[in-house]
Amino acid sequence: MAGKATFDFTGKNVFVVGGTSGINLGIAEAFAAAGARMGVASRKQDKVDAAVAKLGEGALGYAYDVRNYDDVAAAFAAFEETVGKIDVLVSGAAGNFPAPAVGLSPNGFKSVVDIDLIGTFHVMRAAHKHMARPGSIINISAPQAVQAMPFQIHVCAAKAGVDMITKCLAIEWGAEGLRVNSVIPGPIDGTEGMERLAPTEKMRTAVEKSVPMQRMGTPDDVADLCLFLGSDAGRYVSGSIVGADGGWSIAGARLDMMMS
Ligand code: NAP
Ligand code: COA
Repeated sequence: MAGKATFDFTGKNVFVVGGTSGINLGIAEAFAAAGARMGVASRKQDKVDAAVAKLGEGALGYAYDVRNYDDVAAAFAAFEETVGKIDVLVSGAAGNFPAPAVGLSPNGFKSVVDIDLIGTFHVMRAAHKHMARPGSIINISAPQAVQAMPFQIHVCAAKAGVDMITKCLAIEWGAEGLRVNSVIPGPIDGTEGMERLAPTEKMRTAVEKSVPMQRMGTPDDVADLCLFLGSDAGRYVSGSIVGADGGWSIAGARLDMMMS
């Protein structure tokens, strides 16, 4: 289990927004295994219930859409009232689908920006008064934030904005003891994101070959970096955009890969 032997989050409260499936659930499971009291949130009540059951005793779940600020704020208030302030916040709710720019409706572009970028602002804005000091905030970004990719104009724009939110808040909130960082997962095997972006075996192979480390990642690869950033070991890391991506962010996706 990721980080179990290395990190101890006993007595700490960790909240993962979008933590009910895929990479973010893997992150939540790693913090739970390290002893943290967990909170998770996403849109679908059934996914929230299943995640809470997995995360064990004391875990709390909230069903909301990050596009609704009032619901995001109410959940943080309820979490603090029940278990106390948040020591580590992970913000990773996102939506993605491949679409050429001219095949993307204005509402399709807006939907991804609303969830990934404005949703991140909602989460940061609402969580601020519920964070413990010192506290650690981790935004889940993507290689699209630093590498232009075909058929990903909406995600590239949104995730680049997420990384700017990270940097702005690291500056604004550093003096009060909050660290803010972005984590960039590479292509993570078996996730919704990869199933959408590389649905065929040919595409999967092309993705693997395009990663400098020549393999896709696992949720644990990303979770271990989050444990580090959430822990005292990361105490002087703030405003950083850090990859758990096998180097994929500097190599990037190629047009032929996305079209194979
Ligand atoms: P995933 O399983 O679909 O995870 C997305 C999570 O966000 C789910 O818990 C989903 O639950 C929730 N969510 C989606 N829209 C929401 C909304 N409007 N409001 C609240 N919650 C919402 O996808 P994943 O592939 O593991 O991706 C997780 C994160 O990693 C994302 O931030 C993604 O951009 C990033 N990432 C993924 C990869 C990859 O290889 N998969 C690579 C780089 C970065 P509900 O459906 O219940 O809302
Ligand atoms: N290609 C082009 N446009 C698409 C699309 C696709 N594959 N999928 C959705 N859209 C468009 C829709 O047509 C719609 O635009 P329109 O009103 O002009 O027709 C717009 O996007 C919104 O779609 P809708 O289904 O109403 O949005 P939603 O808010 O219910 O869902 C999404 C948001 C579209 C991002 C959906 O894919 C989702 O819920 N994703 C979460 C899971 C996920 O993406 N995981 C991977 C994370 S990296």
